[in-house]
Amino acid sequence: MYFAENENGRIRRKFGALPLSVFLSIVSLNIYIFSAKLRYHFFWEIFMSTPLENYLSSCGNKPTAAMCAYVANLQQVASVNPKIAASVVNEIQNQRSHLKLIASENYCSLAVQSAMGNLLTDKYAEGYPEHRYYGGCVNVDAVEMEAAREAEELFGADYAYVQPHSGADTNLVAYWAILSAKVETPTLEELGVKSLNDLTTEQFAELRKRFGNQKLMGLDYSCGGHLTHGYKMNVSARMFESHPYGVDEKTGLLDYDAIEKQAMEVKPLILLTGYSAYPRKINFKRFREIADKCGAVLMVDMAHFAGLVAGKVFTGDYDPVKWADIVTTTTHKTLRGPRGAMILCKKEFADYVNKGCPMVLGGPLPHVMAAKAIAFKEANTPAYQEYAAKVVKNAQALAKALQDLGVRLQTDGTDNHLMLADVTSYGLTGKQAEAAMFECGVTVNANALPYDKNGAWWTSGLRLGTPALTTLGMGESEMKEVASIIDQVLKGTKPGLTKEGKPAKGKIDLDPAVKEAASKRVQALLSKFVLYPELDLDFLKKEFVK
Ligand SMILES: Cc1ncc(COP(=O)(O)O)c(C=O)c1O
Repeated sequence: MYFAENENGRIRRKFGALPLSVFLSIVSLNIYIFSAKLRYHFFWEIFMSTPLENYLSSCGNKPTAAMCAYVANLQQVASVNPKIAASVVNEIQNQRSHLKLIASENYCSLAVQSAMGNLLTDKYAEGYPEHRYYGGCVNVDAVEMEAAREAEELFGADYAYVQPHSGADTNLVAYWAILSAKVETPTLEELGVKSLNDLTTEQFAELRKRFGNQKLMGLDYSCGGHLTHGYKMNVSARMFESHPYGVDEKTGLLDYDAIEKQAMEVKPLILLTGYSAYPRKINFKRFREIADKCGAVLMVDMAHFAGLVAGKVFTGDYDPVKWADIVTTTTHKTLRGPRGAMILCKKEFADYVNKGCPMVLGGPLPHVMAAKAIAFKEANTPAYQEYAAKVVKNAQALAKALQDLGVRLQTDGTDNHLMLADVTSYGLTGKQAEAAMFECGVTVNANALPYDKNGAWWTSGLRLGTPALTTLGMGESEMKEVASIIDQVLKGTKPGLTKEGKPAKGKIDLDPAVKEAASKRVQALLSKFVLYPELDLDFLKKEFVK
């Protein structure tokens, strides 16, 4: 059989016309290749050992659970696709060699990571515990109930829903739970029907109009709010009539009286607070008063500062779980759990929140819920409370050190885990500062300052956060060194030039001597605070990065 073109130019198979000598050579070549493969496998079996065997024979009879778990896991992955195993190891290398000042990132424990790597991922479990659309969910029920119980205990919440996959999803679930409770249920009562299925087509159309006419009042994106809080580019501003509130232009602080005045005019269905880039505590008791006065449901998105609530740094008037009807959060930022999210709510909303699937979500991620349960338990300890307190102390130490070096901070400082530094005094945009820091081994993100003249893309600020460095064990003296490195890099950076020879907003010109000196300081600092010291990176690189 061989291939030939037919009259239409298409390839077709052709039998019988191959000379016998060519045919025999192909057969013998195949036999040779096949036997060589067999010999290779035989040789491998006898003389080569697997990464796990190599580890066990090199550890002097003292294997650690962390290395066994990582090596075995990577070996499995590499047996299918070695490139993926190599990327995991390269990521450990990257994380170990950069100072992470991204306020929304952290390092979760190896126990949290281990809880995710198993067959729980295979199970469909739409619905909620003991009320699923699939059979065989008994173990997923156990996992979800345990994670929810841990969350309720940790935060003192009436009810926890731990299925949401991300912060964006969880806010959608919360919005639709509120719409169901406050728009759908009263409409069904008004029409004298029990369920949506009993509505006529016209009645359902009317209900959809009512959903679309509701108002949301959240912190403006440009003032530190999140995209999902009513920003035009996000579905939240398309679902709701969005009426964002800002911060005071002079102080950069939330002005509760102004928010109250606006809320009384707008009368939103949902008054939402919480932030991605606001460096101060929020008085949730005051927000409760405003919500009660204007008749709104109070929702708080504590994605950024959940760890500070769990760690009992934000208590009393500053504890959102105490005051809000619905609290949403991610689990992977200050809380130090797996990438994911959850909702904590008052009893009144529990049944509505439980319908997150099928309302918004598909099947839950049982392996991630298992990891959430581990993270919540880790957070419910004195050690974690110490960690949370130290995150804030470190942020304040970093803020003070930067201010001592002449850097202007939004609101003059911080009382949470993050700060916003104005980099325009260095003659740079936020994007340029971010790029220069990264070249020296410091990961940060550019962030718009409220009412930013450089706009939301180039920005005038850097958002700096301490959750990750605190997890590594750094303290206040290291924060001084970090501030000094930041200052050194930014002083050694000039804007690059555009084609027309004007200062660019993105390009940078970083002094090579400054880059070298700052990079050395970064590596010296990191060498004293090694990420996952249980993992032998040289060994992992030797075995998995070819
Ligand atoms: C306040 C807030 N809410 C929601 C989110 C969205 O989280 P995710 O990226 O998990 O969707 C973020 C992410 O940065 C956030 O800061």
